[in-house]
Amino acid sequence: MSQVVVTGGGGFIGSHIVDRLCEQGHEVLVVDDFSTGDPDNLAETRAAYPGLTVLTADVADPATAVAVADFGPEAMLLLAAQFSVKVSLRDPLLDARVNVIGLVNMLEAARRGGCRKVVFASSGGTIYGHAAEEQTLLTETTPRVPESFYGLTKSAAIDYLRLYHELHGLDYAALALGNVYGPRQTPYGEAGVIAIFAQAMLDRRPCVINGDGLNTRDFVHVSDVADAFVRAIGLGHGLINVSSAREHSVLEIHDALRRQIGHAEPHRFGPPLPGEVRRVCLDNSRALEQLGWAPKVSLQDGIRTVISWLESRAVRTSAGGAGAAE
Ligand SMILES: NC(=O)c1ccc[n+]([C@@H]2O[C@H](COP(=O)([O-])OP(=O)(O)OC[C@H]3O[C@@H](n4cnc5c(N)ncnc54)[C@H](O)[C@@H]3O)[C@@H](O)[C@H]2O)c1
Repeated sequence: MSQVVVTGGGGFIGSHIVDRLCEQGHEVLVVDDFSTGDPDNLAETRAAYPGLTVLTADVADPATAVAVADFGPEAMLLLAAQFSVKVSLRDPLLDARVNVIGLVNMLEAARRGGCRKVVFASSGGTIYGHAAEEQTLLTETTPRVPESFYGLTKSAAIDYLRLYHELHGLDYAALALGNVYGPRQTPYGEAGVIAIFAQAMLDRRPCVINGDGLNTRDFVHVSDVADAFVRAIGLGHGLINVSSAREHSVLEIHDALRRQIGHAEPHRFGPPLPGEVRRVCLDNSRALEQLGWAPKVSLQDGIRTVISWLESRAVRTSAGGAGAAE
């Protein structure tokens, strides 16, 4: 048992990681401002595990760094982020404030608090940029040429981590995630095509496909991602892709959902989203070598978990729930 900080622990991916850490008996401090996260994601685990503390705070606030350092974490899992490509293009200052200043603030807290290992949520879908057009499988040695400020901050973070390791001996793993999907992903956001399409079909709304639907992504289930994060506390170093190493087009996803849900309004096509790359498929052999990790959940089984989660609980509705997705 050890002390672990999870920033963004109230979010979609972070809350699944928090569940596992609590089950394993760790003392967990969640740092989240709940700007996109949801306290409900942690409600059951909070009730069951007194070792879980939730600090509602901004990762970029110096006072948060003091609280995190005082907690004395052995490991820090950094998932708090401004995670919209669109927002990053519209407001690069906001993006950098959370994703760069917030990161450095937490790394300083890690250093001062005697933290041994940082595990960072990077983005395999955006850090490599258009390299995917020439290369079938993106490995961790692929040059990083992001096409959006979000991708840039997710790539710059990897260089910050490398330098903190060199200068201060802070060990790190930066997990370059594919397109993560699963229960607790909001179906009303900009990203998360599986949740967005599933909710639209369940509501009998037409799905809007941004672009021609032939864009491909590498979909990885949130339970596999949570497993990779927990493993990375004790294993692995540097940049590691966490992915299925398979690519599926948006039209294929639409079709797979339609077959499982059994009905769908005819889909519509909308304009392509700016800053989006055409293809993403991430080699995951380093994750197997370093973390002993391989994805376990098939796309069909994973889609089933999303549908049953959406069916089993009332998901918060919010503005922009038009069923649009890339
Ligand atoms: N979902 C994906 O497909 C995917 C893919 C690649 C990388 N990632 C990364 O994984 C991480 C988690 O993403 P997610 O999909 O769970 O999204 P999410 O929005 O559910 O989680 C992000 C969490 O960070 C919190 N947060 C945002 N700004 C904050 C701030 N200034 N201070 C404190 N907390 C703040 C939010 O409230 C939220 O709980 C992010 O870093 C994201 O960039 C996600």
